[in-house]
Amino acid sequence: MKTITGKLVSALLTGALILGVAGCSKPAEATESGLKTVESGKLVMATNAFFPPYEYYEGDDIVGIDVEIAEAVADKLGLELVIEDTEFDSIIVGVQSGKYDIGCAGMTITDERLQSVNFTTPYAKGVQSIIVPEDSEITDVDMLLAGDYIVGVQTGTTGDIYMQDDIGEARVDRYQKGNDAIVALTSGKVDAVVIDNEPAKAFVAANEGLKILDTAYVEEEYAMCINKDNEELLNAINEALAELEKDGTIDAIVAKYIPAEG
Ligand code: ARG
Repeated sequence: MKTITGKLVSALLTGALILGVAGCSKPAEATESGLKTVESGKLVMATNAFFPPYEYYEGDDIVGIDVEIAEAVADKLGLELVIEDTEFDSIIVGVQSGKYDIGCAGMTITDERLQSVNFTTPYAKGVQSIIVPEDSEITDVDMLLAGDYIVGVQTGTTGDIYMQDDIGEARVDRYQKGNDAIVALTSGKVDAVVIDNEPAKAFVAANEGLKILDTAYVEEEYAMCINKDNEELLNAINEALAELEKDGTIDAIVAKYIPAEG
């Protein structure tokens, strides 16, 4: 009896929820291409534009690898790309709630994030790197983990998640922007910063007295995240990415921002 009632109640609740959601949220609109997006004819991309060379400001414009790849994808889909700059840790929530169509922010595919959103096929690789002052005594990951050093990270990033797992909350200082973590490092508030390798290179180049340790902390893959309910969009973007991969567009975009070393 008890379980049946429970089930009935939960079925009624689910029904009410579905009605509620359908009743108050704006339904996704279909485009010419037949794709449903947050705004008809547009592809709304959420990013956090303090992550060179993937996304950063050039004057008032947001530019970078992610922006150009997303533009090429939107082109293929016949959609106009709209970029929304937001905190990194509100991208997934916004994609889930139907505020944005995609999150494109040098975002690493993780099992935990896959519980909340879908990811496209990866379009780039990343490595979590460690930045320290040039005269730091820290020489590798093990030393960083074993000591009582304070590590700066960007809130909600994989660097943040892994560091908290490995050394505990008390030793991790979280900042909304990668740049802010770097400022904390140059002013001696933290002993190291853990962040993706390409932004790390850009930050080290822009600030005197910092260096990247040779040893990588974690290797990752970047992809765009999409609402779990929009499989058509996921498939369409995956097809577009495959074409852009095949015809060399993605390589050309990456090469424009990350000149081959050597
Ligand atoms: N790859 C890391 C992650 O997914 C960091 C990404 C940060 N991106 C940004 N645009 N700020 O957690």
